[in-house]
Amino acid sequence: MTACGKPLEVCMQGLGRLEYRGYDSAGVALAAPGMDLVAVRKKAGRLDNLKADLARSPLPDATVGIGHTRWATNGEPSDTNAHPHVSADGKIAIIHNGIIENASKLKMDLQSEGYVFSSGTDTEVAAKLLGKVANTIIEETGKPDLFEALRRVARMLTGAFTILAVDCRQPDIVVGARHDSPLVVGLGEGENFLGSDVAAFVAYTKHAMEIGQDQAVCISGDQVIVTDFNGNPVKDSKRFTVDWDASAAEKGGWPSFMDKEIHEDPEAVANTLLGRFDDQGDIVLDEVHIGLDVFRQVDKIIVVACGTASYAGMVAKYAIEHWVRIPVEVELAHEFRYRDPILTPRTLVVAISQSGETMDTLMALRHAREQGSRVLAICNTQGASIPRESDAVLYTHAGPEIAVASTKAFVAQIVAAYLLGLYLAQVKGTMYRDEIRHILEQLKDMPQKIQWVLDNQAGNVEQAAKQMVSAHSFLFLGRHVGYPVALEGALKLKEIAYTFTEGFAAGELKHGPIALVDAGEPVVVIVPSARGRNILHNKVISGIEEVKARGAFTIAVAELGDPDVEQYADVVFWRPVCPTLLSPLVDVVPLQLFAMDMAMLKGYDVDKPRNLAKSVTVE
Ligand code: F6R
Repeated sequence: MTACGKPLEVCMQGLGRLEYRGYDSAGVALAAPGMDLVAVRKKAGRLDNLKADLARSPLPDATVGIGHTRWATNGEPSDTNAHPHVSADGKIAIIHNGIIENASKLKMDLQSEGYVFSSGTDTEVAAKLLGKVANTIIEETGKPDLFEALRRVARMLTGAFTILAVDCRQPDIVVGARHDSPLVVGLGEGENFLGSDVAAFVAYTKHAMEIGQDQAVCISGDQVIVTDFNGNPVKDSKRFTVDWDASAAEKGGWPSFMDKEIHEDPEAVANTLLGRFDDQGDIVLDEVHIGLDVFRQVDKIIVVACGTASYAGMVAKYAIEHWVRIPVEVELAHEFRYRDPILTPRTLVVAISQSGETMDTLMALRHAREQGSRVLAICNTQGASIPRESDAVLYTHAGPEIAVASTKAFVAQIVAAYLLGLYLAQVKGTMYRDEIRHILEQLKDMPQKIQWVLDNQAGNVEQAAKQMVSAHSFLFLGRHVGYPVALEGALKLKEIAYTFTEGFAAGELKHGPIALVDAGEPVVVIVPSARGRNILHNKVISGIEEVKARGAFTIAVAELGDPDVEQYADVVFWRPVCPTLLSPLVDVVPLQLFAMDMAMLKGYDVDKPRNLAKSVTVE
C-alpha cells in the first residue's frame, strides 16, 4: 500500500485506521533491494497480535510494503489464510479485497501444472497466478514487469477485487488493480500511497486521487501511473482533498469510537446542513449535478440502501411523501435488483450509504442506471464507488465513522434526505417557500435538541441498561417515523450487544408479536407526541397498556412532560419538544446509547462487534 521510506510504519498505522473494515487477521509484506524473497508476516486475530509478533522478531528495513486486515469470505480466519499471499517462488506478495468468482477453475488449472496451495483462499490463487504470469513476462522480455503482470491477471479474473502487489525484483514500486472494490491513491511528497479508504494515509497526505473501475495503478516514491487493464494510459483521474484531519479518526480521549461518534450526532446534523442555502435562504445543492428540469419531472423516488442506511431512507419516506406528494419506495439494495423493479427516466433512485462501498447498494444503483433512471447518492465518504458511479451526490458531512455500528451517519443521512425532499418541494412548487424555510429553521434547531438528550438522558439510559443487562430478548415498537427508529434501535442492540431483538410497527402487535410478551419481557416503545393530531399517540399508549397488562417491562422514548407515558412506562427516555417528522433525529440517540451501554456492561468490544466489518464490499 505504500512506496515510501518507512513502509512498515505506514502500513501498520494504516491498518490501525482501517481495522474497522475487517479484524479477523492481519499481515504485511515488504520488499527492498537485495531481498531474494518478499518478507511476509501475518497473524490471525486483531492487529495487536501482528504488532506483538513484529516486536518479538522485527522484519528487515524495506522500500515498499503492503498490509491487510481481513474479514473472512473464503477460508476461515487463521495465520495461513491471512493476507498477504505469495507466489510459488516467494518473490511476489499480494493482498486482496473482494471475492474472485472463477478462483476454483483457475486453481484447478494451476494444480494441474503442479502448483501447490496451502490456504483455502481465492487470494492465494491470484498470488500463484500473478507469480506465473510475472515469470512468463521475464521469459518474454528478459526483465520483470509487475505492473503488466497484474494487468494480465486482472483480465483473467471474474468477481470483485482490489489487488495490490509487491515484487522483490522491483522493490521501488507497488502496483494495484481494481474491479468492483475500492482503491484510492494518496499523493505525498517523495512518497505515494494506496488504500481502500483515505483513512489509510490521511496522516501523511490529504491529497488523494480516485482509481476508476477496471483501472490499474503503479506507484513509486515520485510517480503515479494509471492505465486501464490493457495498458492504455488514463490521464483524467479525479483528484480531491480529504476534508477531515487524521485526528477526526482518532478516539480523542473517548472510551470507544462509538461513544465519540454518538456524541458527534449534533455536529453531524449541523455540518450536513452547512452551506446548503443561498442568501435568500433557498436550498442550493451545489454537488447535485442533475438539472432542474429533470428534478421537476421526477414522479417517483426509490431509495436503495442496506441496514441502518435503509432505516434512514424509511424515515425520509414519511417526510418526502408528505412534502413532495410523490411516492417514495424504500428497498433493501440486495432485494431490489432481483425483483424487476419498475424504473423509468422519471424515477429518481436515491442510494444511501455511509461508506459508499456497500456492494449490494452499488449493484442496485448500476441496475437503476442501466434501466435509464437517474441515481443520486447520499454518502459520507468522498471519492467512494457509490458517489462516483451515481449521477449526483449529496455528501453527509458527518466526518469519518469508525465504529462498526453506524450512529452519527444515520442522523446525517436523514438530514441529507430531508434536504433533498425540501429541495424537490422547492423545485416542484409543492410547498410554499415560507413553509420550507420554517422546516429548515426547525432542522437547524435539532443539533441543540440532540445535545440536550446527550446531556440530560445519558444517566437515565445507563441506569436502564444496568437494569436490563441480563435480558435475553427485547421488542422495539414504533409507528409512523417511530417505526424505522424502532428498527434502528433494535439493530443496534443486536449487532453490538448480541441480544435477540425484534423491531416492528406497533400496529402489528396484536397481529402476532404480542404472543412473545411474557412476564418481564422488555419492550421499548417510541411514543409520538400528544400535541396536535394525537390519534397515533393514543394508539401507541394503548399498545403500552396492552403489553404491560401481560407483564412486560416497558421503556418509552417520549416527549418531555407526556403525562400518559409517566403513568404507564417503567422507564422513560425523554425527548425535547420537536416536530414529529424531525423527532427521529433525537429519538434514536438514547437507543444508540442504550445499545452501547448494554454492550459495555456485557464486556463486549463496542467498536468491533463479532462477525461484522464496517464496509461490506462483497455481495
Ligand atoms: C449498522 C450498520 C449497517 C450499515 C449497512 C450499510 O449499524 O452499520 O447496517 O448501515 O451495512 O452500510 P453503508 O451505509 O456503508 O452502505
